[in-house]
Amino acid sequence: MLNFIRHAMRDLKGTGAIAPSSPALAERMVAPLSAMPGKRSILEVGPGTGPFTEVILDALRAGDRLDICEFNDGFCDHLERGMLSRHREARRPGDIRLLRGDVLAVPLEPSYDAIVCGLPFTNFQTPVVHAIFGRMLSSLRPGGRMTFFRYYLVRGAQAPFIGTRGRARLRALAHLEAAIGREHALHTEVVLANVPPAVAVTVTRSTDPNTSTAPWLA
Ligand SMILES: C[S@@+](CC[C@H](N)C(=O)[O-])C[C@H]1O[C@@H](n2cnc3c(N)ncnc32)[C@H](O)[C@@H]1O
Repeated sequence: MLNFIRHAMRDLKGTGAIAPSSPALAERMVAPLSAMPGKRSILEVGPGTGPFTEVILDALRAGDRLDICEFNDGFCDHLERGMLSRHREARRPGDIRLLRGDVLAVPLEPSYDAIVCGLPFTNFQTPVVHAIFGRMLSSLRPGGRMTFFRYYLVRGAQAPFIGTRGRARLRALAHLEAAIGREHALHTEVVLANVPPAVAVTVTRSTDPNTSTAPWLA
């Protein structure tokens, strides 16, 4: 927790949270992995101190590959020392990669089986949210699953205090989620055991080749 606060203070907007996610939310975010047979290629975006990373690492099978993208150097060093170096020893070189940088700029694989995203979307400008979702959806194979989360009721509860621009951003986020849900399968689940309570959202990318990976533009 102290590590989270120290590194978060250097980039409050990018971190966008008051505490790391709970084990209950982490289990929910990583749950789609267990239903995937065989070797899996996984991307985690925005791990912070690694509550989701820890569950993903424990779920890895022989032959799986994991890319982790984080742009805060303090969090990267913390992950490398505390978790990744230990897990790498038991695996093939290159199976677990830490991509230090912005998810919009680092080189990604073209077709991950699963993406676990811990980014604080309510803090970002709408064009940035659109660009990140576009990049993630187009890096997910058809039939692959992506999870992200938002805080439960935060949209409504914040609305009176965040001004016209903030309200427009929240409306744009709700619009984006609805647009994704019209083209791809979308499932939400409330996780009360988190501070604050959260909604885990799972998107299964459509296998229809005509489906858009940027449906909010339609
Ligand atoms: C809300 S914290 C979440 C940390 C962790 N997943 C959790 O749930 O506790 C968001 C993390 O995303 C990282 N981040 C924000 N924007 C990013 C971007 N564009 N590319 C890569 N990492 C980013 C931040 O540095 C921070 O570590």
